Amino acid sequence: TRPKITVVGSANVDLTFRTPRLPVPGETFAGHSLHQGMGGKGANQAVVAARLGADVSFVARVGNDGFATQAIDAYENDGINTNFIRHSKDQPTGTAAILVDDEAENCIIVVAGANAELCADDVRSAKTAIEAADVVICQLETPLEAAIEAFKIARAANVLTMLTPAPAKLVTDELLALSDACVPNKTEIAAITGNAVETEADCVLAAQTLMQRGVRQVALTMGGEGVLTLDHSGMSRIPATQVKAVDTTGAGDAFTGALAVSLAEGLPLSDAASRAAIVAAISVTRIGTQTSFPSLDEVNRWNQTGPIE
Ligand code: RIB
Ligand code: NA
Repeated sequence: TRPKITVVGSANVDLTFRTPRLPVPGETFAGHSLHQGMGGKGANQAVVAARLGADVSFVARVGNDGFATQAIDAYENDGINTNFIRHSKDQPTGTAAILVDDEAENCIIVVAGANAELCADDVRSAKTAIEAADVVICQLETPLEAAIEAFKIARAANVLTMLTPAPAKLVTDELLALSDACVPNKTEIAAITGNAVETEADCVLAAQTLMQRGVRQVALTMGGEGVLTLDHSGMSRIPATQVKAVDTTGAGDAFTGALAVSLAEGLPLSDAASRAAIVAAISVTRIGTQTSFPSLDEVNRWNQTGPIE
């Protein structure tokens, strides 16, 4: 049977501008190209899980605008259940302006729009999809009350809860205690623990701190330095797959969605993280967020032959 994943979180339209370099205040110059695609951390995780073969439901808020229609069409194209997506009356669909330069450095502005209206009642309307899932994933681009409600329903039904604490902010003890798995990057784990996280030793300490605060599985993503996992069976270090980075936007979401699928399939945490790291690596070789996420076929081919040109 296919793994079942329910994602509660944000949906955005991503407008990606390729530019030779990032502008400075007051400057105007020509970019290389414009790419419109779907993004938002929640939607990204839902899409990657669906492309890897999972049965996915997505709980979200979009506006009453053209972007909303395009977003829902795109999710349905990926086979995602969109019955739990509600339309806000006055707020636009969330939108991100993303600048990516020739060195793959980026700057991102997100206007939350309808995402800010995702509420506990929206989540309760998806109760059956949460209870039927193997894994429920939340992020921090939508209100905390929605994530807390989702994790409470999931806990009561013995469903694994996975939190991506992104974008970086302080996470309440309540939400952390409801998170079985936590998938931060260095900036995000630093925001949670309140300590700077730079060295390998800082990473280990921060991951241990999350375990003390009730998390059972930590997968700390460190970009070009790979991934550190920690659970009851111990710590593992997964080296990064070396690729030429074109656009790293959404790589963390690709990792999280893929990790959820592999955990739902019963893989141990460190094996699940190794597989997910490959999915994330493929995504950084291409421009855009959801447009850059691979299918299961492509991941399998990559595993056999390495990078596909
Ligand atoms: O994590 C990447 C996402 O962050 C982008 O898709 C953008 O929409 C922002 O929300
Ligand atoms: Na990409």
